[in-house]
Amino acid sequence: MKTNEGKYTTIHYQKYLKIEELLSAQVLRSEQLGEPAHEEMLFIVVHQVYELWFKQIIHELESVIDFFTDNEVIESSLSVAIGRLRRVEDILKLLVEQIGIMETMTPLDFLDFRNYLFPASGFQSFQFRAIECLLGLPEEQRLTYFGQKYSSVFTEDKQKRLDDIYAKGTLLNQVNAWLERTPFLELDGFNFLTEYQTAVNAMLNKETTAINESSYLTEKEKKMRTEMAGSTNTYFKSILEESTHEQLMTEGKKKLSYKATVAALFINLYRDEPILHLPFQFITCLMDIDNQVTNWRYRHAQMVLRMIGNKIGTGGSSGHEYLAKTASLHQIFTDFHGISSLLIPRSELPTLPDGIRDQLNFHFNTKK
Ligand code: HEM
Repeated sequence: MKTNEGKYTTIHYQKYLKIEELLSAQVLRSEQLGEPAHEEMLFIVVHQVYELWFKQIIHELESVIDFFTDNEVIESSLSVAIGRLRRVEDILKLLVEQIGIMETMTPLDFLDFRNYLFPASGFQSFQFRAIECLLGLPEEQRLTYFGQKYSSVFTEDKQKRLDDIYAKGTLLNQVNAWLERTPFLELDGFNFLTEYQTAVNAMLNKETTAINESSYLTEKEKKMRTEMAGSTNTYFKSILEESTHEQLMTEGKKKLSYKATVAALFINLYRDEPILHLPFQFITCLMDIDNQVTNWRYRHAQMVLRMIGNKIGTGGSSGHEYLAKTASLHQIFTDFHGISSLLIPRSELPTLPDGIRDQLNFHFNTKK
């Protein structure tokens, strides 16, 4: 049992958690201005709780990014990273739920103190922006106002901290580099893409034959369905032709490099191989986090519509309209969702040569 001696001193709950400081940080502006508004306490507490959870999310994301920075991710780090990302996902779920508590305040109650808040706005949440940057939201993808940089509302010091996140490498950048290092795509005479192309062609041919031979479909329906099957073909083009992928990248429609996308496809297709379980779970975590952030954006936008209708925001945006657009525009790991269009049934999967299967049972690492 440790005592007061040495570095293991005892500490009181209140002091350890700085409860006094924490509980003295709810200062109602409406009270200060002599017009106390009961609901302002809820408004402040909910925002502060969000900021605390943002702090925890940043703590987790930074640690996960650190696992990737030395160009090698060992399996044990990957499972710790997955654990931390799952935690981030759970926190985000809680944050989506919390919107319901904010909504117990009526729009009329909000008007009792909204005027005192100008021009304070969620736009000025540094930690929210830091989370977006850590995840890897590309700057050029951001919806901004008055031609100003998204970070212009912060002090120079804070702007630099956000720039530094991009300079150090976001989660998206690090995951891209990690995927690019994936071995197995071209080993021992096995060329994954060539084999995959053959399997895709066989699958598409089967689909077209099934349509044409169907006794239930009319000629018109057959024509329509064959055309639809043809448009599926264009998804496959982006993975089978590097130039198509590059073009989509320049148009901002793809974020992962071609090589990384092929690796992500390989991991998705052969996820049943033991060594690919963790990489597959990791990719799934990233999609889940993206989904939860999108859920939050959507729920927040709906709450804003309910609270202030179509009024502009205190930060000067178009309010609900802006927020609703960010729900789709500010997604980050969309390339992983796109992989689903490229999947083929297990029955069509090219069989892996024994040599490669042996390695997949062993370790997932560029080092022999
Ligand atoms: C009555 C409740 C709320 C209203 C009416 C509201 C309103 C708005 C509006 C209109 C915007 C757009 C920017 C602007 O022009 O100001 C915004 C952005 C934002 N709000 Fe809220 N908000 C509310 C609660 C919250 C809560 C509880 C949080 C939690 C931290 C939050 C975080 C944010 C963030 C991070 C943004 C920036 C989003 C982005 O740019 O993608 N808001 N809010």
